[in-house]
Amino acid sequence: MENLILTGPTMASALEALEKEFNVHHYWEADDKDAFLAAHSTTRFVGATGNAKLDAAMMDKLPALEIISNLGVGVDLIDLDAARARNIRVTNTPEVLSDAVAELTLALMLAVCRRVVDADKYIRDGKWPEGGYPLTGELTGAKVGILGLGRIGKEIANRCQAFKMQVVYHGRREQQFEPYPYYANLVDMARDVDWLVAVVPGDTGTIGLVNREVLEALGPDGAFVNVGRGSLVDEPAMLDLLKNGGLGGAGLDVFLDEPEMSPDFWDLPNVVLSPHMGSATHKTRGSMGDLFVRNLLAHRDGNPLITPVV
Ligand code: NAP
Ligand code: 8YV
Repeated sequence: MENLILTGPTMASALEALEKEFNVHHYWEADDKDAFLAAHSTTRFVGATGNAKLDAAMMDKLPALEIISNLGVGVDLIDLDAARARNIRVTNTPEVLSDAVAELTLALMLAVCRRVVDADKYIRDGKWPEGGYPLTGELTGAKVGILGLGRIGKEIANRCQAFKMQVVYHGRREQQFEPYPYYANLVDMARDVDWLVAVVPGDTGTIGLVNREVLEALGPDGAFVNVGRGSLVDEPAMLDLLKNGGLGGAGLDVFLDEPEMSPDFWDLPNVVLSPHMGSATHKTRGSMGDLFVRNLLAHRDGNPLITPVV
């Protein structure tokens, strides 16, 4: 059987499927990563999971590498230019996870809007007999601006419409067949909406895209939801505005330096946090794992890749 380097832990089902077809070597368990790569320098296959970066230096230590199959749609941990330059194919797992991520996005919006987490604590702290929980906002009739009306963004828009919200969006270009009003300028959109939902890829073009100006335009009555990547937002500016009332609230599934994220979020009452779990359901991770493995088998068997990126 062929050798395969797995860069991080993955679901048991995916690991079991891989171990039937490959000799799987666990990169993340190696104490000496350079020695591990030297010992497996003839490996043609890599399964990319978890938080390992696959940069040019790592690729150069695997001169026989032919394919990197990424578990997830975001490939920001893989240097795609380096892969292209080395004729290394890269695949990902788009679409199968769009519903689950959209579902979690609405969960964060509802939790922030209806203050579900704090209300739960209100009861558990025995405060209910003192009086009813304070009135909250609601999603119905509110205006949501989607930054990134892509595969996931469109599913978020569908669900926001089901909650009787007004949907608008921003991207680099207007999408001809989408029914929602397009904003060419992100600050203008942030100023006009109650909710800003970010679901763009993490790449050099999106680093800090949601900056202080955008967040101030969203303002004290606005809320920011990030299910894309932590790098999309100026995190120190967001923390400052959440603390001083310049931003009304936030629902966050992704963070800088995760999982070692900033503890400054932890005491903010107007923030709901989730640990990068948008796609983390049994059903969706099963589908992702299946696609992750099938791309590797397709390459091994000389068949077309199912979801190529490079
Ligand atoms: P997609 O279909 O490629 O959609 C990306 C959208 O972002 C497109 O509409 C694109 O529109 C827009 N965009 C890209 N660069 C932009 C920029 N510089 N400025 C403004 N808009 C930009 O991708 P997807 O499948 O929806 O996934 C999106 C991202 O979600 C992934 O890359 C990943 O980072 C993240 N994600 C997170 C989780 C989680 O667990 N939280 C799970 C899955 C994915 P234009 O081309 O018109 O600009
Ligand atoms: C996963 C994601 O957290 O698909 C993505 O881009 O962010 C999520 O599905 C991750 O990629 C799986 O390791």
